[in-house]
Amino acid sequence: MADNSTSDEVKRHWTYKKLPEMTDREFAKWQALLDKRTGMTITPERKSFLQTNLSSRMREVGCHDYEEYFNKVIDRPSGMMEWMTLVDRLTVQETRFYRDEDAFSLVADYLRNLPKKQLEKRPIEVWSVGCSTGEEPYTLAMVVDDCLETLGIKGYFAITGTDISTPALGKARAARYPMRKLITLGEEHKQKYFTQINQNEFEVIPEIRARVCFSRVNVLEIKKAPMDSMNIIFCQNLLIYFKRWRRKEILNRLAERLQPGGLLVLGLGEIVDWKNPLLERINNEKNLAFIRRQ
Ligand SMILES: C[S@@+](CC[C@H](N)C(=O)[O-])C[C@H]1O[C@@H](n2cnc3c(N)ncnc32)[C@H](O)[C@@H]1O
Repeated sequence: MADNSTSDEVKRHWTYKKLPEMTDREFAKWQALLDKRTGMTITPERKSFLQTNLSSRMREVGCHDYEEYFNKVIDRPSGMMEWMTLVDRLTVQETRFYRDEDAFSLVADYLRNLPKKQLEKRPIEVWSVGCSTGEEPYTLAMVVDDCLETLGIKGYFAITGTDISTPALGKARAARYPMRKLITLGEEHKQKYFTQINQNEFEVIPEIRARVCFSRVNVLEIKKAPMDSMNIIFCQNLLIYFKRWRRKEILNRLAERLQPGGLLVLGLGEIVDWKNPLLERINNEKNLAFIRRQ
């Protein structure tokens, strides 16, 4: 039998060895790469955040040099998988069902006011941009489903959730959530839209899952995304991670993907000085939302 004691010793040594402080030059290189590829802004105040996350991943892959790891992730095609894992570690994925109740109420009001014929004739298309682990697109699906039911309409709808993080999208597709994730849902919605699959886990029901699909889209590359003529675009808690000029760029691209009369919902305060000739702001203190002019 092989003697593994030496390699175990080396591994242990790697695990506990503290990585050296990242130099300013190394930090600038990582900052530029993340900015260019993801739009993520790592300010000097967040250097320790970057260093902690990088070094924890580097330990996992047995790399002890920031430069060496940098070259590993930019190497194409072999670095792509590692790059995706790293992006997942560096993005904030906090989310929850019905996170911004006012925004979901606005969506419900919007749908209730659409002509009945429109709801019956064409599927309602909704896009959740930066959907993380799926709670937001599934909430949108529940809101649309509830509305159609209340209106007594047998309409169709399709929700698309997109995100840059492949692992987050994997969790979204699995549609399984621990009990603690369901606390923001009322009992009625829990009963109606989830099945308990074990002591601690709930699964979104197949009828809702069938309406929601997920795809990896980097918002810096919206041009490549096929979504078009959407009824509703929902984009919350994503823009805050970008520089102001980038937020505007992204929003201008999203505005083009709405159909006339379509609704764009952002998070309150996420952009202050942006206007787009295609859109009209909804005059309402509780929401930051726009309608595409006819
Ligand atoms: C804080 S979560 C917001 C989730 C959800 N929209 C909500 O409000 O609850 C932000 C999400 O944006 C995603 N994200 C960050 N940069 C992105 C990019 N360049 N393209 C697409 N998604 C991105 C992250 O992976 C993360 O899942």
